[in-house]
Amino acid sequence: MSTEQQPRQDPGVFRTKTVEQSIRDTEEPEHALRKSLTAWDLTVFGVGVIIGTGIFVLTGIAARDNAGPATSLSFVAAGIVCALAALCYAEFASTVPVAGSAYTFSYASIGELPAWIIGWDLVLEFALGTAVVAVGWSGYARHLLHTNLGWDLPVALSGPDAGGSFDLLAFLLVLALTAILVIGMKLSARITAIVVVVKVTVVLMVIIAGLFFIKASNYSPFIPPAQPQEAGGGWKAPLIQVLFGYEPTNFGVMGIFTAASLVFFAFIGFDVVATAAEETKNPQRDMPRGILGSLLICTVLYVAVTLVVTGMQRYTEMSATAPLADAFKSVNQPFFSGAISLGAIVGLITVCMILLLGQTRVFFAMSRDGLLPRFFSVTHPTFRTPYRATILLGVIISILAGFTSLEKLAELVNIGTLFAFVVVALGVIVLRRTRPDLHRAFRTPWVPVIPILSIAASVWLMLNLPTETWLRFGVWMAVGCVVYFLYGRGHSRLGKLGKDAKF
Ligand code: ALA
Repeated sequence: MSTEQQPRQDPGVFRTKTVEQSIRDTEEPEHALRKSLTAWDLTVFGVGVIIGTGIFVLTGIAARDNAGPATSLSFVAAGIVCALAALCYAEFASTVPVAGSAYTFSYASIGELPAWIIGWDLVLEFALGTAVVAVGWSGYARHLLHTNLGWDLPVALSGPDAGGSFDLLAFLLVLALTAILVIGMKLSARITAIVVVVKVTVVLMVIIAGLFFIKASNYSPFIPPAQPQEAGGGWKAPLIQVLFGYEPTNFGVMGIFTAASLVFFAFIGFDVVATAAEETKNPQRDMPRGILGSLLICTVLYVAVTLVVTGMQRYTEMSATAPLADAFKSVNQPFFSGAISLGAIVGLITVCMILLLGQTRVFFAMSRDGLLPRFFSVTHPTFRTPYRATILLGVIISILAGFTSLEKLAELVNIGTLFAFVVVALGVIVLRRTRPDLHRAFRTPWVPVIPILSIAASVWLMLNLPTETWLRFGVWMAVGCVVYFLYGRGHSRLGKLGKDAKF
């Protein structure tokens, strides 16, 4: 048996919390979550959050503006980046089965400040991700209300993207989901399962029905030739082009990667599965199955959907708001078009809910460690859910969703997520060295090669994001460092170890 690691108690920002401490914390009754999820629940959760705005909305933008029919290759590229990261997430999640995902992993391996940075980064990913999806959902909902019932919300309540000022539907959606999450995990998982069936059915329908409407001429050219971007696009140009002094272009081979860095959003979610590790019955076995299984299913579906829709409609004519439904409209199939819109509306709800769930769990873990006020990590006496964190964050995100335009937010979510991948891959390497004795139900193959490849691939996609996205991300992280040094560092339970805190 392993001898328990002693926590690194130096007052510095690289103090680490032991894996044993992390697991023991989950056993304190006041702060414990109910363990009820199986590998099947996790896979359903994964597919439930992965398939969403990415495939239903961003495919059209990527094909029209960045990569044409080669967008299917962008999905392959983004899928490879995610698979490499998933192998690292799976090892970590099966070794440290504690709420908080990459945050917890980093706390156990690299140190408190890096863990804080990643936690702060995940807050950005999940909060903005939830808002993006809620706003996307609201757009589809208004579209369906308009076309089927001829009913329109007042413009003022239709959200910034539709020329209004407040997005009522997105706001209400987030509040309703918050209430469901407060009531409990199992209820959420059941609702998720039903919605996932609807969503996957719609995606399969696109693939199978769409096959009959493909025109080979739409695939030519498969990789459209590179075109210069409009003048003044400096801040919008991918950082890689700015760094190396290229003239910013769309399409061409570089365009495939620009599109990959955008459609990467479509894969976000498998990492969220890891945040539910503590609520899983047998995390050592079920986590890797849930994470890798859901990722594989989604990658296959995405590539197939993209090949089909870019074959049905010329990329230059693809819709930026409802490309899948629009592709069927373009071949005079209103029935399929309507069914797809309906499926998207139902499907985006689970995406939104699970991102919100991931968000509250990271916040919960940070609060339990004292890096954020401990008040938020007390669980509900009956529901065993972190209801305080859930309500606080649900309200903030609902307001965010009400007032925010989703353009650009997806890119900010992507950079945050890719950054988390880099930290997790580093963590795998570090933990193998510092804790070789730990039981790892799932071991990432070829360490350190796979983690290093994962880091390189994630950084590559990050470099393909616009320069302005890097700036916004830098500002968010700088604010996070200020919060840590003003609050977290002084209140950390680990920091107080040996004085008044007991782990
Ligand atoms: N992957 C999720 C989506 O596409 C976040 O909406």
